[in-house]
Amino acid sequence: MNQLFEDLSFVENPQYESIIEDILAQQYSIVEDFFTSEEVSVLRESLIEKNEEDAFKKSAIGNRVNELIIKSVRGDIILWIDELKANKAELLFFNKINSLINYLNKTCFLGILHKEFHYAMYPKGTFYKRHIDTFQNDDRRKLSIVCYLNEDGWLPENGGELVLYLDENGKETEKVIYPFPGRVVIFESQIIEHEVKPVNKERMSITGWLKTR
Ligand code: OGA
Ligand code: MN
Repeated sequence: MNQLFEDLSFVENPQYESIIEDILAQQYSIVEDFFTSEEVSVLRESLIEKNEEDAFKKSAIGNRVNELIIKSVRGDIILWIDELKANKAELLFFNKINSLINYLNKTCFLGILHKEFHYAMYPKGTFYKRHIDTFQNDDRRKLSIVCYLNEDGWLPENGGELVLYLDENGKETEKVIYPFPGRVVIFESQIIEHEVKPVNKERMSITGWLKTR
């Protein structure tokens, strides 16, 4: 009888548990099949549709000199996603992300209160030089999340590896991660320097941040 009144809102989730373990141990986690291939294609279609509508803006827009400088740092074009105006694909995306956030907040006391996500498309020949995801005057970004939306069969010669620069007992090591569809990479925004190597084929993703207040 009593168990009827048990709080069943929290059920241990092995995938989320291993994300948490990884992040505690090494400040990053690589999750395979976070999105099914069905979900990846729905999200990729949404990205492509918006890109064709020309809704994407260059990753940062300023004057021409500015633009040239920025292009030498990053060449992706992005579109921020408004959860309040989410289409079907984006609802699916935020359902999964929100469930992860709830889990993290219940088990880790991370205090994630905000999130921001954008589509990103790297045209052939573009890259994102080594950087860290937090701004000098804003340290609210806690976790970076990158979700790859490429088609099946991403080849090494397509480039576009995400490289994480890790510190192993004072020695720098590189963790090379290919942008395979369905794969999600989560890392500590304030700690891990990283870069996107030049792409030889259009590279698609959704990238975002979980933030504290
Ligand atoms: C970024 C970023 C990594 C990736 O958008 O800040 O580092 O693999 N993206 O796309
Ligand atoms: Mn980054």
